[in-house]
Amino acid sequence: MKIGIVGCGFVGATAAYAMVMRGVGRKIVMVDLNRDRARAEAADISHAVPFAHALEVTAGEYEDLNGASLVVIAAGVGQKPGESRLQLLERNAAVFRSVIPAVLKHAGEAVLLVATNPVDIMTHLAAALARDFRIPRSRIIGTGTTLDTARFRSLLSNALGIDPRHVHAHVVGEHGDSEVLGWSLVTVGGMPLETFAKRRSLPLHPDQIASIDHQVRHAAYKIIAGKQATYYGIGSAIANVADVILNDRRSILTLCTPLVDCEGVGNVTLSLPHLIGGSGILETFPPTLDERERRALRESAQIVRNSIESIGM
Ligand code: LAC
Repeated sequence: MKIGIVGCGFVGATAAYAMVMRGVGRKIVMVDLNRDRARAEAADISHAVPFAHALEVTAGEYEDLNGASLVVIAAGVGQKPGESRLQLLERNAAVFRSVIPAVLKHAGEAVLLVATNPVDIMTHLAAALARDFRIPRSRIIGTGTTLDTARFRSLLSNALGIDPRHVHAHVVGEHGDSEVLGWSLVTVGGMPLETFAKRRSLPLHPDQIASIDHQVRHAAYKIIAGKQATYYGIGSAIANVADVILNDRRSILTLCTPLVDCEGVGNVTLSLPHLIGGSGILETFPPTLDERERRALRESAQIVRNSIESIGM
């Protein structure tokens, strides 16, 4: 099965590399306005294939995306140190208005996975542009808070001394400063967090909870301050979504997609838990949050809605 990656910067190239390491798909086509970059990244990543899984990695043009099952959109500019994701909006919206129609002209059957920040608004714009191609909403998704959810689970597993695979937790809302950590939803080995922590004599103190919240919410800023960009976490998250879609794994992931309504805010794109399979979103599961979390989600939805309106949608 073929995967297209449009945008061969740090994120797109790392996602391709992570797919090779995981053995996702059979062919990866890398597209970028900078054709020399696309060719160089494809060549470099293809040299990892003999050490990993048999995939064909090539550079190509939009027409080479024909027949792709999934196209990852990682085109655009990334945050500079101290810059918020929302500050990228105008520049990346202009990029999308040319990239998305070009992709859908050739890969109209693919699931579109947007990774470009601000990912919620960029996914909303991609879905609006896709309407001209009659692409169902279920096939237009964004990486949303899937990486934030992974960060949350990882920090919780460290604090609790348990394998992260037994920690179930979700971050919902904007992939950004207003995201909502669903503390009230956390379960460990099938039991509520409080039960597990008490049984293990590991009561999570308020300052520990505040520290985990801060680390999740500010992870990207801290990494960007030190190395200019994040790409291993998001690249691996993209490869995981690709694996779930290409292999129809039916996983529940906090990806973003346009919603008719979220906590009273209409026509907004942000992350909730979705059942993901080969054709994209199969079902959406709005979480049962506590009152504080619901207010925070409503505020997050309003922040994203305001940004969507700022580019005329
Ligand atoms: C991050 C980028 C993908 O959170 O927004 O690392």
